Amino acid sequence: MSSSVEKKIKQLREQIIKHDYNYYVLTQPVISDEDYDKLVKELEKLESENPDLITPDSPTQRVGKDLTKEFNPVKHKIPMLSLANTYDEQDLFDFDRRVKESLSDSEQVEYVVELKIDGASVSINYVDGILRTAATRGDGIIGEEITNNIKTIRSLPLTIDLAKEKKYKLKNFEVRGEVYMRIADFEGLNKQRENKGEKLFANPRNSTAGTLKLQDPKIVSERKLQVFLYSLISLDEEFQSQEENLKLLSKLGFTVNPHYKVCKSIDEVLMVCNKFEAIRDTLEYEIDGAVIKVNLIRQQKILGSIAKSPRWAVAYKFKAKQAFTKLNDITWQVGRTGAITPVAELEPIKLAGSTISRATLHNFDEIQRKDIRVGDTVVLEKGGDVIPKVVSVVLSERPKRSSQTIPPDKCPVCGSKIFKPENEVAFYCENPECSAQIKGRIIHFASRGAMDIEGLGDALVDLFVDKGFIKHFSDIYKLKNRRAELIKIERLGEKSIDNLLQAIEKSKSQPFSKVLFALGIRYVGSGAAQKITAYFNSIDDIIAATEDDISAIYEIGPSISKSIKQFFSDKKNIKLIEELRNSGLNFISEKKEIIQSALTDKTFVLTGALSTMSREEAGARIIKLGGKVSASVSKNTDYVVAGEKAGSKLTKAQSLGVKILDETTFLKLLEEIK
Ligand code: IVH
Repeated sequence: MSSSVEKKIKQLREQIIKHDYNYYVLTQPVISDEDYDKLVKELEKLESENPDLITPDSPTQRVGKDLTKEFNPVKHKIPMLSLANTYDEQDLFDFDRRVKESLSDSEQVEYVVELKIDGASVSINYVDGILRTAATRGDGIIGEEITNNIKTIRSLPLTIDLAKEKKYKLKNFEVRGEVYMRIADFEGLNKQRENKGEKLFANPRNSTAGTLKLQDPKIVSERKLQVFLYSLISLDEEFQSQEENLKLLSKLGFTVNPHYKVCKSIDEVLMVCNKFEAIRDTLEYEIDGAVIKVNLIRQQKILGSIAKSPRWAVAYKFKAKQAFTKLNDITWQVGRTGAITPVAELEPIKLAGSTISRATLHNFDEIQRKDIRVGDTVVLEKGGDVIPKVVSVVLSERPKRSSQTIPPDKCPVCGSKIFKPENEVAFYCENPECSAQIKGRIIHFASRGAMDIEGLGDALVDLFVDKGFIKHFSDIYKLKNRRAELIKIERLGEKSIDNLLQAIEKSKSQPFSKVLFALGIRYVGSGAAQKITAYFNSIDDIIAATEDDISAIYEIGPSISKSIKQFFSDKKNIKLIEELRNSGLNFISEKKEIIQSALTDKTFVLTGALSTMSREEAGARIIKLGGKVSASVSKNTDYVVAGEKAGSKLTKAQSLGVKILDETTFLKLLEEIK
């Protein structure tokens, strides 16, 4: 390999890195896109001719080649804390008072106020100036490794020229910040998804978090994630202040949000918070508040942390965004369980970046409590969360002739009787054959997290149910016998029917957990379905199990087990399972891939607090290695893992003579199997 090629590659990389910095960090490009693309193409060509010269920090490696199968857990060297919230002036003054009470009188306190970016936090590790790993926050102690996805963020340097900053010890450091998506990119992404009939993301935060968990970095790269860094931690370096920290981050080439301010008093902090709230709508990304941090690191150390949040910082949450609009109508929607939900049909209005024309009114009690009437002007609110709410009615705007809203007296879809179970707020349609219920069940059955039948969306389900092709799940698998009739339906070509029939066939290979979830048993979400199918070997075992057997599964409560028992005590449902089984659906738990291990089919009970991981994580690792996790100790329990402050479960294990593992022994067991 000639050294001139090596030199050329090095030169190209340096050029591209510089242009990336100009473009993505400074947002001041100095060459045309075309010239930039030429440089990248040239580098790609040289690298493909000389694959030995490819290094992980080359700009061509931003989109890794490997699909990640799953995300590895990463233990944060220093826990990633979260912030306590404050909502008003008084809360802020209280924070200031607490800070000052903990410091001696002679201390002067300065605060740094930053924007609270509404995205997902990330911690990125650099060793010898090279981006090594990146991880999500997870539970603050253990996150998930998402290095390949983070590398797609073009403003993030893959290498840092440490020679530039000799003053600091930066051999091994971590930067922390918030990954986000610009509002315009989020809206563009949702448009694309809408066109493809895919589920929309509720807000930029959700789409960021969803994107970071994608398995394919190529798709992540198309989503154009961004990042603002707000903290640099080096185990062998002490910084003076948060301000110095932000300046150093900038100097090293990281993007730091420019809207931060050092304040001398809490009054100034409040003023800056109000200023930030006022510019909120002018920013190209979402913020949900401000973050106030004690500036001096020395003072931060004195203040320390309580539980999961530092005492030296707080979030100041902005008020939810509001809008006023007219309530044109209240319609009643029937869901797959028969529950009837009121929906506000609104005069379309823009709120926090999206146009809203419908909002759920939850239930009739809520309408009564707020006395919401058709024709009213209502106040809509969209907090940090997803769905807009009707918060109140502007009574002064109420039209003279308006009448109180009354609930429907029969099912708005099929006209059947409705009822209201005791202890519930919802009215229910009593007819399980109601077309709205059938449609809801089929849509759920075919949805992505369940049987994942591509093409069987709302519109087709409506059509097939209305035309009588589908009434029960089992009818879906009989559609292939009616191909001739189907292709005659207007709008549906031969090609789309064949694609659909193919997707239906393909769905037969969905694992048992997805099939169980698809059945739509009340309270059995996808997480519960996974836990249940990891515990039982087949549907026959579940049908035969008692309520107690089912609720012995870790994290499966009595309402789930009762609902499962109820579902299978109905003969119609047993017949349905038989039909689906005959159609070839999967009712047997996946064989665990591991060859016999010490954990295979062993039942564990976790009790007390573990110091290296949460109980959830310990449970997940046991299941992954072929074991089972149960909530209660019995003579069938093989091991009890006892953490700190283990209580009655430990005593019971001792009395039954069940083997007890302390945390260290448990970890050793896991390690040995790995
Ligand atoms: S500081 C101990 N600064 O808000 C310090 N957080 O609950 C913890 N966030 O998890 C974080 N912008 O995801 C900090 N300028 C900022 C931030 C910020 C957004 C997020 C971060 C954190 C959450 C706080």
